[in-house]
Amino acid sequence: MKVEPLVEMKDIRKNFGAVQALKGVDLILNHNEVLGLVGDNAAGKSTLMKVLSGAYITDEGEILFGGEKVHITKPEDSRNLGIEMVYQDFALAGNIDVAGNIFLGRERTLGGLGALLRVLDRRGMAGESRQLLDRLKIEVESIRQRVDTLSGGQRQAVAIGRATAFDAKVVIMDEPTASLSVAAIEKVLELIKQLKEHKVAVIIISHRLEDILNVSDWIMVLRLGRRVGYMENKGLTKDDLVAYIVGARDDFPEN
Ligand SMILES: Nc1ncnc2c1ncn2[C@@H]1O[C@H](COP(=O)(O)OP(=O)(O)OP(=O)(O)O)[C@@H](O)[C@H]1O
Ligand SMILES: [Mg+2]
Repeated sequence: MKVEPLVEMKDIRKNFGAVQALKGVDLILNHNEVLGLVGDNAAGKSTLMKVLSGAYITDEGEILFGGEKVHITKPEDSRNLGIEMVYQDFALAGNIDVAGNIFLGRERTLGGLGALLRVLDRRGMAGESRQLLDRLKIEVESIRQRVDTLSGGQRQAVAIGRATAFDAKVVIMDEPTASLSVAAIEKVLELIKQLKEHKVAVIIISHRLEDILNVSDWIMVLRLGRRVGYMENKGLTKDDLVAYIVGARDDFPEN
């Protein structure tokens, strides 16, 4: 029996006025796979992922999820499918604690009269947050700690933790290791491997090719809004990727 890809994007096109950000891009993400997405600045990486996460609506083309055609026109559509995006700027609320951030926008209330009065189930949310962080081996001293007191690496980890809290099937990360220390980068890469072990598929965008080569099963290269490379990460080197990225190499079969 043929197993359908988890996500398939076909002939995705997106224009911003005169700028053709995506010129008919295809993407395949298989179950339990880490897909590395690379390309130079303005290649269209973030735009493609914003189409998948519902931040942008594609002008043309289609998206299949588990082999079924889906219509993603707002972030909620994508989230309901189990697709979560971790943004470059983290989008955490600094003045709220870790547990509060993990449940941000999905706060849980107590049952009975509590639900009626919208009393938050703080203990329940704190307990679940702790479990989640432990499961992913994310080290945060206290779940009650305000996010603006965390280090950059811890914040990135909490943002990734939040993205996976609610039964995510796909986690998209746009530059998760930019501006992190070497040790924090290692943690994030480790976290990506943890997600994979928990059967979550991951798409990671990064300019750090060594990180991409470290964690990806497949790698896709975009250049000027087109897919110019899609290969299994076997025996690939940084130089190979650079050649595709800058256009020195253009032997992609579909072109
Ligand atoms: N909201 C927007 N309005 C107008 N143009 C946009 C918008 N979003 C993206 N673009 C343009 O689309 C092209 C692709 O941008 P995108 O952000 O997808 O690139 P990227 O591959 O993520 O680059 P980087 O590595 O620098 O993050 C760029 O030319 C950019 O200026
Ligand atoms: Mg980008």
